[in-house]
Amino acid sequence: MSITTLGEFILEEQKDFPDSSGELSSILSSIRLAGKIVSNQINKAGLAQHIMGAAGSENIQGEAQQKLDVYADNQFIKALKVRGIVCGIASEENDDFIAFNENNDAKYVVMIDPLDGSSNIDVNVSVGTIFSVCKRVSPVGSPVELRDFLQPGIQQVAAGYIIFGSSTMLVYTTGKGVNGFTLDPGIGVFFLSHPAMKTPKNGKIYSINEGNIKHCADGVSEYVRYCQSDQNDLGKPYTGRYIGSLVADFHRNLLKGGIYIYPSTKEAPTGKLRLLYECSPLAFLIEQAGGKASNGQDRIMEIQPTKLHQRVPFFIGSVNMVDKVEGFLDT
Ligand code: AHG
Ligand code: MN
Ligand code: MN
Repeated sequence: MSITTLGEFILEEQKDFPDSSGELSSILSSIRLAGKIVSNQINKAGLAQHIMGAAGSENIQGEAQQKLDVYADNQFIKALKVRGIVCGIASEENDDFIAFNENNDAKYVVMIDPLDGSSNIDVNVSVGTIFSVCKRVSPVGSPVELRDFLQPGIQQVAAGYIIFGSSTMLVYTTGKGVNGFTLDPGIGVFFLSHPAMKTPKNGKIYSINEGNIKHCADGVSEYVRYCQSDQNDLGKPYTGRYIGSLVADFHRNLLKGGIYIYPSTKEAPTGKLRLLYECSPLAFLIEQAGGKASNGQDRIMEIQPTKLHQRVPFFIGSVNMVDKVEGFLDT
């Protein structure tokens, strides 16, 4: 078993950061801490009524917030604020960005989906956290501004996710490959378990909510029929797997090869998933692992955000599979 801890890995990697002032390392350490705290609560969710079920409030997405959405949001905001290294946060659970005015000298902003797959909490299915880190574009020393968050994915300096599954894993990139760390809950330490992760160019798994199939572009339904036929590149039907937690579907496809699709639908004409804190960070990761992410035609990493909670159609995974579905959309 690897004996490299996440802390040691971050310090080792930090030597290569352009401004190795240690701030980026400190951000990753804050996320690690909050991840352990949230993991601890999730692992007893069934017993801890105070974090099960709906919070009785709605977020800007018009989605009923789960208590754990709010709990996780608070934990990550607290962990990132207290060290004075982040000047602001944009979170799925908050209408506007959160300015840390006491941290105006900080150089970084964080975009976060504090709990992805919330609908699965009460039924004990894997959920996750997705995060993205950018350098601010407004002057250091001034209050953070909306433009600091509205940056295309190519401007990210780090991105990753935590998956709270059969084990808790933290997977992240700073642009030098993708590495995965597994939490040993007995001692509260993340160990390097998946070094230099690469995703297969092809896969046998497609992930899409087929309930929407009658309400999305013809190219998408044609691709799904291709996956289900004997006339595809495998010569037999692919496997359909859809968990309802993007992080869990993404993580499985990253390891095994596959494609996750959330297209524009009648109900979600610009797609459901949010560019800043779901699509861009996962796009950074998949590209670093040799895969691909698009909105069906454009590279996710080059889309210029115009709104904090902007949604985009999302096609992500093995490069040959994303190319294939784009071919169906082109016709
Ligand atoms: P979140 O819980 O952060 O709102 O994200 C849920 C997302 C994603 O995790 C999942 O793949 C997708 O919503 C499921 O949407 P449908 O239930 O519409 O398929
Ligand atoms: Mn989400
Ligand atoms: Mn969420």
